Amino acid sequence: MLSLAALDTRISVPTRQLTTPGPDAATLQRMLTTAVRVPDHGKRVPFRLLHISGDARTALADAAQARLLEREPNAGDGVITKLRARFTAPPMTIAVIARLGFDEKIPVSERASTASCVCLLLLQAAQAEGFGAQWLTGWPAYDRQFLENVLGLEEDEQLTGTIAIGTSQVEAPERDRPDLNALISDWNPG
Ligand SMILES: Cc1cc2nc3c(=O)[nH]c(=O)nc-3n(C[C@H](O)[C@H](O)[C@H](O)COP(=O)(O)O)c2cc1C
Repeated sequence: MLSLAALDTRISVPTRQLTTPGPDAATLQRMLTTAVRVPDHGKRVPFRLLHISGDARTALADAAQARLLEREPNAGDGVITKLRARFTAPPMTIAVIARLGFDEKIPVSERASTASCVCLLLLQAAQAEGFGAQWLTGWPAYDRQFLENVLGLEEDEQLTGTIAIGTSQVEAPERDRPDLNALISDWNPG
């Protein structure tokens, strides 16, 4: 049974605090099965996933660093270290890619929403299996050169986010949560 108490424990672990072990193949498969069970208008399945682990993490960090230095030739060591850690600290990253090509009926925004739902469910699935996780974007999610030449996205695809997954080294930091009562009001006709 779905438990609200369990859902209420959802919290992100900063990526630099994620370490080994990550999920094994069977556990990852289980988590991803949960993550792809998303609401999907028109059953378009408007997303795909990239699995980044092992040596691919370092290769991706190298490519991201090279692109960063093209974008910002004077980027400091701190910025470079932080960028590399995003890909090398967690044992595994799943990139969630939205497929947003022409569609007669389902707007791009709805298909992007479906891909976002995959990200959220993957965060929850990771936590349910005892792992920490975090959803990241930043410039790598919007730099078309990085997306297409390094990650291999098509022109009509977007990176909805990368989900870093690993074992949390720390208790995840809590933050203020939205005040529900300030966000909801009754709609009244005219
Ligand atoms: C679409 C999206 C992109 C995000 N990108 C980043 C990011 O690039 N860097 C970052 O520090 N946090 C990013 N976050 C925020 C974290 O994933 C996380 O939500 C935040 O640290 C708050 O923690 P919480 O999930 O426990 O509320 C992003 C969140 C979303 C929804």
